[in-house]
Amino acid sequence: MSQHIDRVCVIGAGTMGHGIAQVSAMAGIDVVLVDATAELAERGYHRIRENLEEGVKRQKVTPEQRDKTLARITFAGDLAVAGSANLVIEAIPEKIELKRTLFAELERQVSPGVLLGSNTSSLSITDLQAPLTHPQRLLGLHFFNPVHINKLVEVIHGRQTSKDALESALEYVRRIEKEPVVIKDSPGFATSRLGVLLGLEAMRMVEEGVASAEDIDKALELGYRHPMGPLRLTDLVGLDVRLDIARYLHQKLGAEQFRPPAILERKVAEGKLGKKTGEGFYKWS
Ligand code: NAI
Repeated sequence: MSQHIDRVCVIGAGTMGHGIAQVSAMAGIDVVLVDATAELAERGYHRIRENLEEGVKRQKVTPEQRDKTLARITFAGDLAVAGSANLVIEAIPEKIELKRTLFAELERQVSPGVLLGSNTSSLSITDLQAPLTHPQRLLGLHFFNPVHINKLVEVIHGRQTSKDALESALEYVRRIEKEPVVIKDSPGFATSRLGVLLGLEAMRMVEEGVASAEDIDKALELGYRHPMGPLRLTDLVGLDVRLDIARYLHQKLGAEQFRPPAILERKVAEGKLGKKTGEGFYKWS
């Protein structure tokens, strides 16, 4: 039987975690936001407050909604609070060992009925399940940045995810007014596999002198109505992040088209990581 989610614990109050906490609280769900220290968790809480203030300024959020949302969120620097939630979502860095350690600790802290979600953008849910005593309640809940704006959530079922867990997760995603897509666990899920492939091919085209980065992006933005071309997007995501995912997909899928192009390897080695360092396929400063 699926369960109704009314209290969520979000672990990791960074770029993604604070957004997941915000959209959950806006939908009337009580939220506890956890980070490695209470100070870091509080920083996430302040980011939520700033987003909501901005929403009020733009008249997308009423002052009453802002106040009610903030009142539903508490924060902590300790996992012990996770026990009070019926869904725990982790949004800690993309390192399998870190996530494994966290889930092992969560198994000690929360009862077996609590649903567990991972916001991983590429790691295998089945691999994350492998060491767990109760793997059937773990699934992927892959949100997109910025969470309060982007509608999509990939819901990924690993080999051992139960039907009930999947149904509960889908109900939660709809409740927070996001659109779920259901994906069987496989490298890169749907979005990273397709998105990264397009980006890598665009890089190879720049490398071959087929067209400039600007013109490749323009071609897809105007010709295919992509909101943003693949190279500009790569600059925003970070070339280092994309390189890591490409290497991972190349290794896992064993497919040549995921081999990172030399231009990507070179730019990352030179510290040209995209917007965050001032240069990637574009100059940002
Ligand atoms: P981030 O670096 O902004 O935030 C991670 C947070 O986790 C930090 O505040 C850090 O202090 C905290 N943390 C680290 N270890 C912890 C622990 N053991 N317990 C509690 N808190 C801990 O990272 P970001 O970008 O939010 O990414 C988080 C996850 O979301 C990753 O798996 C990433 O692949 C995924 N993701 C990221 C997207 C993005 O655009 N940034 C998009 C979709 C998924």
